[in-house]
Amino acid sequence: MQPFTLQSPRLQLLVPGPADVPAIVDACQDEAVQRFTTVPTPYGEPDARFFLDRIVDHGWATGRELSWGIREPGSSLLVGMISIRLAGHDLGFWMSRGARGKGLMTEAVRLVVDWAFDERGLPDVRWEGYVGNDGSAAVARRSGFSYAGVGPGTHPGRDGGHPLCWRGRLLSTDDRDPKPGWPAAGDPVPAAAGS
Ligand SMILES: CC(C)(COP(=O)(O)OP(=O)(O)OC[C@H]1O[C@@H](n2cnc3c(N)ncnc32)[C@H](O)[C@@H]1OP(=O)(O)O)[C@@H](O)C(=O)NCCC(=O)NCCS
Repeated sequence: MQPFTLQSPRLQLLVPGPADVPAIVDACQDEAVQRFTTVPTPYGEPDARFFLDRIVDHGWATGRELSWGIREPGSSLLVGMISIRLAGHDLGFWMSRGARGKGLMTEAVRLVVDWAFDERGLPDVRWEGYVGNDGSAAVARRSGFSYAGVGPGTHPGRDGGHPLCWRGRLLSTDDRDPKPGWPAAGDPVPAAAGS
């Protein structure tokens, strides 16, 4: 698939490239990115180059996984990453620490979900986050996803296991208002729910 750009007045989603390596390496040092995603740890320039070649470029070439770097208008600095895997209709994302809390990831999710429904014709988009990832769950909730329960993650974690994940789902027919039923931020993590 030919890479394309998505944009709104607040941000631009552009395919990341070699010039973004320093920003990616910097963002992936963050404790929350390391804890809640499967980026390698420790994370260095070879990891960013591997990511760009083998995940981003390969994902676009095969059409299996589409990844965009998030930038604010007028700035070339990459502040976050978002991707959608088309087989499972599922999202992955992170935002660099300095750009968090401004609603940018919620906006990026909106752009990708709109594309998935309006241009790609997907019936739904799915979200998964490790149990206890309140920030990611807040993005899904704010984006209109319904809480779909807890269970072993679809994708293997860094150790090859399938950690317990919260799940969310947004139907193409859903409105984008926040839905009730999400775990409250700071709720105790269930010991074995859904496993
Ligand atoms: C999750 C993450 C992408 C959120 O990015 P962001 O740009 O700050 O998100 P937004 O600004 O769009 O926030 C949307 C909502 O989430 C809330 N939120 C953001 N981070 C939060 C956190 N750590 N804890 C609780 N709520 C959080 C915001 O306050 C906002 O809610 P509100 O509008 O009710 O106030 C970012 O914290 C991150 O990169 N975390 C580490 C990597 C990660 O967890 N990736 C997802 C893996 S599933």
